[in-house]
Amino acid sequence: MPTRRFLITAALPYSNGRLHVGHIAGAYLPADIYVRYLRATGADVRFVCGSDDNGVAAIKTAREQGRTVEELTAYFNASQRDSFAGLGIDFDIYGGTHQPEYVELHQKISQEFFLKIHDKGYFTKKKTRQLYDTRAGQFLPDRFVKGVCPHCGSDNAFGDQCEGCGKSLDALDLVNPVSTMTGTQPGPRETIHWYLRLDRLSQRLRTYLESKRDQWRSTVINFALGQIDTDEGLPERAMTRDLDWGVPVPLDDPDAKGKVLYVWFDAPIGYISFTAKLCERLGEGWEAYEDWWKSPDCKIVHFIGEDNTVFHAITFPAMMLATHDSDSVTGARGEFQITDNVVANAFLNIKFPGQEEEKISKSRGTAVWIEDYLKTLDADPLRYYLTANAPEAQRAAFDFDDFLTRNNTELLNALGNFVNRTMTFAHKYFDGKVPHAGAPGRVDTEQLDRRQAAADAVAGDLERCRFKSALNHMMQLARDANGYFDATAPFRTRKTDMDACGRAVNVCLQTVRTLTTLMAPFLPASAARCRTMLNLDDDALAWTSAADRLPDGAPLAPPQLLFKKLDPDELFAE
Ligand code: 2FM
Ligand code: ZN
Repeated sequence: MPTRRFLITAALPYSNGRLHVGHIAGAYLPADIYVRYLRATGADVRFVCGSDDNGVAAIKTAREQGRTVEELTAYFNASQRDSFAGLGIDFDIYGGTHQPEYVELHQKISQEFFLKIHDKGYFTKKKTRQLYDTRAGQFLPDRFVKGVCPHCGSDNAFGDQCEGCGKSLDALDLVNPVSTMTGTQPGPRETIHWYLRLDRLSQRLRTYLESKRDQWRSTVINFALGQIDTDEGLPERAMTRDLDWGVPVPLDDPDAKGKVLYVWFDAPIGYISFTAKLCERLGEGWEAYEDWWKSPDCKIVHFIGEDNTVFHAITFPAMMLATHDSDSVTGARGEFQITDNVVANAFLNIKFPGQEEEKISKSRGTAVWIEDYLKTLDADPLRYYLTANAPEAQRAAFDFDDFLTRNNTELLNALGNFVNRTMTFAHKYFDGKVPHAGAPGRVDTEQLDRRQAAADAVAGDLERCRFKSALNHMMQLARDANGYFDATAPFRTRKTDMDACGRAVNVCLQTVRTLTTLMAPFLPASAARCRTMLNLDDDALAWTSAADRLPDGAPLAPPQLLFKKLDPDELFAE
C-alpha cells in the first residue's frame, strides 16, 4: 500500500493572550492525537501551526497594554509555543504570520495568492462607506465601534453584531456609535475595498460540500451547506482593510495604498507559508510546500474551534477554488487541493466547585490557563480529561470536581493501577522478567484477543476523528484487564500454582504492551514510561505491532507510577 500523506493544521491562535483549556479542547489536542495516531500507522504527516499575528485583535490589545504590536505578538507567540510544548502538542513547525523569521515568506505567499485570485477575476473593487475616527486617524474595524442596536435598542451592540439580540449588524446602522479606541463619535467616510466573489464560487463550493456529507461531522457540514442554501446565497466579502498592520495589498493601484489583506484572508495562508518554511528548514527548499498543498495524494485536514467554521469550510476553500485554472471541484494536480476534512469542536464552558457552569471569559477570569495548570500538574491528566469530555458534538464543561474524579477513578484506578500492579507483580515474583506464557485457557485467550479488537476499535474511531469514543475503547481494554487480573487472581495463585500465576501475569504484560501503543496518541508521556518499563523501542508504537507478544523471559525495567492521585484540597488551594 502506498504511504498515506497528510497535512494537518490546527487553527492559528491570535497572539494577543494566553491559552486556556477551551483552546486546547477545541482544536489542538484532537489535532495532536490524530497526528500521533496517523504516524503510528506509518503515514507521512506534517503538522503545522503558529500564531495569527495580524488583524485588529493584536492592535487592540497592544494599545490597551501600552506595548508595540511587534512586542506583544512576539511575547504571546513564545508563551503559546511553551504551553503547547508543555502539553506534548508537538507541531513540526510553530510559525507566526508576523514573526521576524516567518513574515517575509508569509507575505510573499499571501500576496501571490491574492494576485492569482485578482488575475482570475474573482475580486470586485468597490467603494463603500465606513466609520472613521478622526482622533485616531483611521477607519474603525467593526469590533472597535459600540453603540445602540437599531433592532432591539440594547446599548451593547458592536459594529458587526448586537450582543443583546444576536443580530448581525452593519456598523453604519448603529445608533450613537462610539469609537472604543478614543471614545469619540466616528463618522462615515468613503473607502475602497476588494471583495471576493463568493457568489460566483458557490456552485462549485456546494458540489464540493455535498461530497463531504458522509465524511464531515454533521455540525460542520450542516452549517456550511446552510450558509450556501439561503435565498441571498453567499455575499461578496471584503478581503482588504484600512490598517497599517498586516500584509500590504500587493496591487499597483493608488487605491490600494495604506491597505492590508483582511486577517481572515492571510491567516489560513499561514498554514501554507509555515509549511513552506518547514520545507526550507528541512533542506527541501520552500517551494516544496506544493508537494503537500497541490498534490491530490496528500490529504489536508483542519482542526478548529466551532467559531472558525465559516472560514475553513467556506472562505478558505473558496479562496483556493478562485486560484484554479481548472474547474475541478477539489483541484487538479498542481493546484491548491481543497480540504479533505474540517474537524470542529464546540466551545468548552467552565464549572468551578460550588458554582454554576459558565462561559470561559478572559475578562471575568473564568478560565484555566495552561501556563498555570502546568506549574503544578502533568500534561496527561489534562489530555485525558479534555478528550474523555471533549465537546465533539456539543458544548461540554471543564468541571473541576469531574476532572479530579476522573483522574482518580479512571486514569489512576483503571489504567494506572492495572499497569502498576502488573509491573510490580512481575518484578516481585518473576525476577523482573516476562513469565512463561504456558498453555492459555479460555479466559486467557479471551483477554489476549481483546487486545487486537481494542486496537481495531480505537483505530476505527480515530480514522473518523471520534476521539472521545476512541479513548473509551482504550480504557475499556484497561477495565477488562483489571477484571481479568481480579478473576485470575495471581496474588492467590502465587501461593498455590506458580504456572497459573505466571500465565496470568504474562497475559497482563501482553495487555500492558498493547495499551502502550493504544494510549500513546492520547497520553504520550505515560506511553513513554510504559515503553521504558517494557524495554520497547520506538517501533513498538507502530499500530500494526500493538498486539505483538513480549517474548517469554524478556527483561523488564523497574515499575514507574503513571499517574498521581489529585487531592482537591491541595488543588483548590492553588
Ligand atoms: O479564532 C482564532 O483564534 C483565529 N486566530 C483562528 C485563525 S485560523 C486560521 F485560519 F489561521
Ligand atoms: Zn439588538
